[in-house]
Amino acid sequence: MKKIRKAVIPVAGLGTRFLPATKAIPKEMLTIVDRPTIQYIVEEVVASGIEEVILITSEGKSAIENHFDYNYELDTILKEKKKDALRKELAQTSSLIDVVSVRQKEPLGLGHAIWMARKVVGEEPFLVLLGDDLVRSQTPCCRQMIDLYEQVNESIVAIQHVPMDQTYQYGIVEGEKTHLDRTYKVERMVEKPAPGTSNSDMAIIGRYLLMPEVFAALGKTNPGHGGEIQLTDALQSLTAQRGMYAYEFEGKRYDAGDKLGYLKAIIDIAMDHPTLGEPLRDHITSVCTCDKHG
Ligand code: UTP
Repeated sequence: MKKIRKAVIPVAGLGTRFLPATKAIPKEMLTIVDRPTIQYIVEEVVASGIEEVILITSEGKSAIENHFDYNYELDTILKEKKKDALRKELAQTSSLIDVVSVRQKEPLGLGHAIWMARKVVGEEPFLVLLGDDLVRSQTPCCRQMIDLYEQVNESIVAIQHVPMDQTYQYGIVEGEKTHLDRTYKVERMVEKPAPGTSNSDMAIIGRYLLMPEVFAALGKTNPGHGGEIQLTDALQSLTAQRGMYAYEFEGKRYDAGDKLGYLKAIIDIAMDHPTLGEPLRDHITSVCTCDKHG
C-alpha cells in the first residue's frame, strides 16, 4: 500500500461570496482570531504526517505563498528590536512544511484545480483539502482519513449529515453502511441535487483522499453543473471504476468561505483561546442578556 505523503490545497477560487473583502485579499488569508484560515488547514496537514503541500493558486494569491515563506527583512527588523518570541513564531510558520505551488490560469472549477496537480502528485494517492474548509477535531480530520485508508486502500470522501433542505448546496453521496466505524461504501454521487432527486443527507465536505486514477477521470470530465469541471463527476467515475468510501469524520466543520461559517469559526476558536476565551465569553453573555431584556 502506498503511503499518503502529499496534500493538494486548491486556493485559486474567486471568493465571490466574500466580496468586497476578497477583492484584493485572498479569502484564505482572512484572519480567524490570530492566523489566516489557510494556516489552520496547513497545520492540520502537518499534524496528519504529510510531507508536502501543493497549493493550486491563481493571480492575486501570492500572499498565501508568502505567508509560508521566510521573510528576511522582517526577520532582521524583529531581530534588531529583540522581538524573539515573534521571530520564533514566524520561523515556525515558514518551516511548517515544504510548499510547492501550481498556477490555475482560469477558475474552471474545483475539478480543474485538482487536475492541475497531476504532474506534481504523480502516481500516488493523495489528500485534497479545500482552502476555506476548517475542521476542528481531537484527531486531525486528515489523520482520521489516512487511518481508514490504511484499512480499505481506496479513495475516501469526508462527509457530514446535513438537513435535507440544504442538500442542494453540496455534493451528495448515496451508499450503504459498512462494518467499519462511521464508514459507508459509496454507490452514487450527485452534485447539488435538485430537491426530491436524492434521499441521502450525506454531504461531501472539503476533505478527500484520492487514488491517482482520479486524474485520468478529471481529464475526461466535461464541464458539469455551472459550466465548471466538477470534481464530483470524476469521483463518480472513480467510484464505478474501483470503489470509494464515505467517512463521517469526528469533529466540527466550518465553511470559512461563507460569511456566517467564518463568524462561527472565529467565535468557537476564540472561546477556546487561553487568554481571549474568558473575556469573550463574558462579552457574549452580556450581549445576549441585553438582547433578552431589551
Ligand atoms: P468555492 O466555490 O468554495 O470557492 O471552491 P470560490 O469559487 O473561491 O468561492 P465563491 O463561491 O466564489 O465565494 C472551493 C475551493 O476550491 C477552490 C477555491 O479556492 C476553494 O478553496 N477553487 C475553486 C479553485 O482552486 N479553483 C476554481 O476554479 C474553483
